[in-house]
Amino acid sequence: MLVNMVNMMKEAAHADKAVPGFNVFGYEDAKMVIEVAEELNAPAILMSNKDAVAHMDLKYQAALYCAMGEDTQIPVCVHLDHGKDYELCVKAIRAGYTSVMYDGSGLPLEENIRNTQEVVRLAHACDISVEAEIGCVGYNDPSIKAKAMYTEPTEAKQFAEETGVDALAVAVGTLHRMQIQDAKIQYDRLDQIQELTEVPLVIHGSTGLTDEDLSKLATYRVAKVNIGTALRMAFGNTMRDDMNANPQEFDRIKFFKKPMEEIKEVIRQKYKRLGW
Ligand code: G3H
Ligand code: ZN
Repeated sequence: MLVNMVNMMKEAAHADKAVPGFNVFGYEDAKMVIEVAEELNAPAILMSNKDAVAHMDLKYQAALYCAMGEDTQIPVCVHLDHGKDYELCVKAIRAGYTSVMYDGSGLPLEENIRNTQEVVRLAHACDISVEAEIGCVGYNDPSIKAKAMYTEPTEAKQFAEETGVDALAVAVGTLHRMQIQDAKIQYDRLDQIQELTEVPLVIHGSTGLTDEDLSKLATYRVAKVNIGTALRMAFGNTMRDDMNANPQEFDRIKFFKKPMEEIKEVIRQKYKRLGW
């Protein structure tokens, strides 16, 4: 069942659960996310990030993921991750995405609010949910220029009230693309944000979180936890090992088998840590 993110965010925010939003790069990842979600009777969020968008036109991704979402009983949201401008969000909505993130986190507050308001106005008229970011979750990769900035709780309140977003990404200690689990979450900051706002919260860069932090965050008003690098590592490392072990093999479908099994287990573990 293809859905936007609104209800799953509200429900997860009020339960001791958070929905994992997985970055997917094609059929193999999406299939494993949906299979695990079916097994656990949980909702699924399939997200296209900017690498995926640069690799394959959004309309092909939308057609694939939406068809997969329509073919299952569980709620599936097809989400544009880190949409950097209005035009990309419009393109995603026209292509069939049920949800978009407008990411103006590198902009001054007022400009981020203004741009987000425009995306919300269009998206809500089309029954599409909107996530946006306040503060800035940086990157553990010096080649990507994004100045990390913790979220100020009062700005989160102003941003949520003035934009009407369905989910709000906050910067409370994670960084994107961490390969080890040593992020230090500022729970005091998260507490203050929760006290001042009512909006479901999103944590990005969640590969860097320990299992304990994932479980703890699920008890907060955190409704969505974004995970990308963990799956990319599991898929790529497993495929490399398999290729090295079978130097005569050339069939890509055979090479997809073990990485798919491996990411399925990672996906299952993340869901379980998040309360499913
Ligand atoms: O938006 C995507 C996520 O924030 C993924 O972060 O690759 O560090 O897990 P990650
Ligand atoms: Zn992110």
